[in-house]
Amino acid sequence: MQTRVSVIGAGNVGSSLAYLMIQAELADVVLFDIAEGVPQGKALDISEAGPLWISSASILGTNNFEDTAESDIIVVTAGLARKPDMSRDDLLLANARIVADIVERTAALSPNAIFIIVTNPVDVMAQLSLQVSGFKKNRVIGMGGILDSARFRTFVAWEAGVSPRDVEALVLGGHGDGMVLMPRFTTVKGVSVTEMFTPERVEQLVQRTKQGGAEIVALLKSGSAYYAPAAAIFHMIKSIVIDEKRLLPCSAYLTGEYGVTDVYNGVPVILGRNGVMKIIEFKLNDPEKAAFAKSAEAVKSMYAKLSDFKKGLPGTG
Ligand code: NAI
Ligand code: 2OP
Repeated sequence: MQTRVSVIGAGNVGSSLAYLMIQAELADVVLFDIAEGVPQGKALDISEAGPLWISSASILGTNNFEDTAESDIIVVTAGLARKPDMSRDDLLLANARIVADIVERTAALSPNAIFIIVTNPVDVMAQLSLQVSGFKKNRVIGMGGILDSARFRTFVAWEAGVSPRDVEALVLGGHGDGMVLMPRFTTVKGVSVTEMFTPERVEQLVQRTKQGGAEIVALLKSGSAYYAPAAAIFHMIKSIVIDEKRLLPCSAYLTGEYGVTDVYNGVPVILGRNGVMKIIEFKLNDPEKAAFAKSAEAVKSMYAKLSDFKKGLPGTG
């Protein structure tokens, strides 16, 4: 394969993503984890599926950061996942330590890579990764909105009794309690859900989507969602690798877009070979603007909670 993707964190999300990439022959994969034997065991298992999928892509499991050198894309899925009584924000400090260390080491080994940050709270972790890596903002992207919009599309499709293929949804804002679902831009074959369902029913679908991660955590009892998250990351990687220029909701660094500055938040972006090619701005109404600003403010204040931790990190000078 011409493309090399390193996945840091061989847990549920990371290994599911690695499997998808090998199955689709999208890239050669390096699967890294601190747990000895785990990335090697998972890589061996995935390799043995290669002949069955007629895939020539290779996968290496490793505990050695040097093996990630010269990656085109680095996906960070390492860290702690939510437990039933935890919010994404509870993960803040523990995951900041893990992500900062990983980004510092891998950025030095792959100076031309694009980072896709997944570890929660993802918008804050993406901002931390931008700072630590010193990379340009188009090369550090968070994954959240694709997952949230896929959840919304699923629930709308069930409600309408149609294939999820025929549902499009737009989700803005951070991947957290303040995510901003946009029912008027959510359509079944072009018809807005606000025209199809009662306002009460739309609100129920919105609330279920907002609680989508927690619903799965409560069912699993241990760990959080991973199949849909892995599929969401896969589509980001595919759009970058084949320069597909998909318009996807991702967490990107904002410098005035949607009236917000100096913070990562979920917005529609065009993803291509160089990462974020463009942030697309839709005209929002006043309640939508207010909800988006509130969501960005929540990310900013969470990032500010890392101020002590950030002292001494690369990029703080
Ligand atoms: P998991 O617990 O299954 O896997 C995490 C892996 O990270 C483990 O294998 C662990 O050994 C590894 N790890 C811990 N510290 C490490 C380090 N310093 N270096 C390398 N590896 C390290 O968790 P899962 O389900 O894979 O989730 C991973 C993260 O992704 C969590 O923070 C979770 O909240 C987040 N997530 C974010 C989503 C989003 O939409 N942004 C969706 C799903 C998960
Ligand atoms: C989710 O939404 C845990 O953020 C993850 O499922």
